[in-house]
Amino acid sequence: MGSDGRALKLPDGAEAGDGVPRRLVIEGKFVGDRALVERCVVTLAGERGLLLVGEPGTAKSMLSELLSAAVCGTSGLVVQGTAGTTEDQLKYGWNYALLLAQGPSRQALVPSPVLTAMRRGGIARVEEVTRCLPEVQDSLVSLLSERRIAVPELAGSQDALAHAAPGFNLIATANLRDKGVSEMSAALKRRFNFETVGPIPDLDAETALVRSQARASVERAGAPFHVDDAVLEALVTAFRDLREGRSAEGWEVERPSTVMSTAEAVSVAGALALAAAYFPGDRDVLGLLPGHLLGVVRKDDPADAARLRGYWDGPVRRRAEQGSATWRTLWDLRTVLEG
Ligand SMILES: Nc1ncnc2c1ncn2[C@@H]1O[C@H](COP(=O)(O)OP(=O)(O)O)[C@@H](O)[C@H]1O
Ligand SMILES: [Mg+2]
Repeated sequence: MGSDGRALKLPDGAEAGDGVPRRLVIEGKFVGDRALVERCVVTLAGERGLLLVGEPGTAKSMLSELLSAAVCGTSGLVVQGTAGTTEDQLKYGWNYALLLAQGPSRQALVPSPVLTAMRRGGIARVEEVTRCLPEVQDSLVSLLSERRIAVPELAGSQDALAHAAPGFNLIATANLRDKGVSEMSAALKRRFNFETVGPIPDLDAETALVRSQARASVERAGAPFHVDDAVLEALVTAFRDLREGRSAEGWEVERPSTVMSTAEAVSVAGALALAAAYFPGDRDVLGLLPGHLLGVVRKDDPADAARLRGYWDGPVRRRAEQGSATWRTLWDLRTVLEG
């Protein structure tokens, strides 16, 4: 998110506090449709929760962190949905030592991130909500409709009912590859506005993102960034062609069953950048690309390796024949894919 790299200026006459810069550039972090982000913000201002759905690696979690940090100052009130998630983790639990010593009391109550968000009027996040068991998901229904959590153990005290302070809301994420979104109960679906987060539509935007994140990852390691634009562009092009089942030129490509996500492209680019930093001059990092692609593709289905070879025999070879030096090098490395 951020403001497309625009500088924020304090209004004239405003005093900047100690150490606060007069001007601040906020870099764009989420690459995507501005209208989508605006709809998310509007949803969060209302009473329905926000459900971000999409393929893995499309920055749903990242967007949910950015939105909650922007709206309420923290992205830390989060519950990770798994088959083992319990209702306690969405509502409250107990500090058993205190419970045994004093009986139920506010001090002995251990609030869930959701309860904490309700008390503060903040945003709680539920990751991978469709992985939770249906009865656990159901507890979210009452929570979102009644906007309060009852604590029967504290009946008679003022803490027996926690009402949501104004501003409270939930952001949930769900993966389309997990069986589940369709299995969410109608009651729960009704309490969320769905927003679908798709892959980045534009090659240049995706390449720029991959470059900046790969650069950041080597710079964190204290090393310089030396990966040619041609290498990054070939990497992102290959990911996009395999993801879409069609090359940039319009040639047919057989799609692997693995998701060729931007997140994976970022991690391959990071690995290439680290290789270039730590083994400079040893070899051209372009030569590492086929092996990394094979690693990404082979995750779900062994037959995907054959699909990658098909991609090499089709678009990669044709581009080599058309005279592209980068694709020529990649074509010459086809044997790497035989393993
Ligand atoms: N549209 C995008 N904008 C910015 N970063 C992206 C985008 N798509 C993917 N990424 C990269 O993917 C990483 C992982 O995304 P994540 O939020 O974990 O995906 P998801 O929750 O959808 O599986 C991000 O940290 C970022 O590096
Ligand atoms: Mg996620």
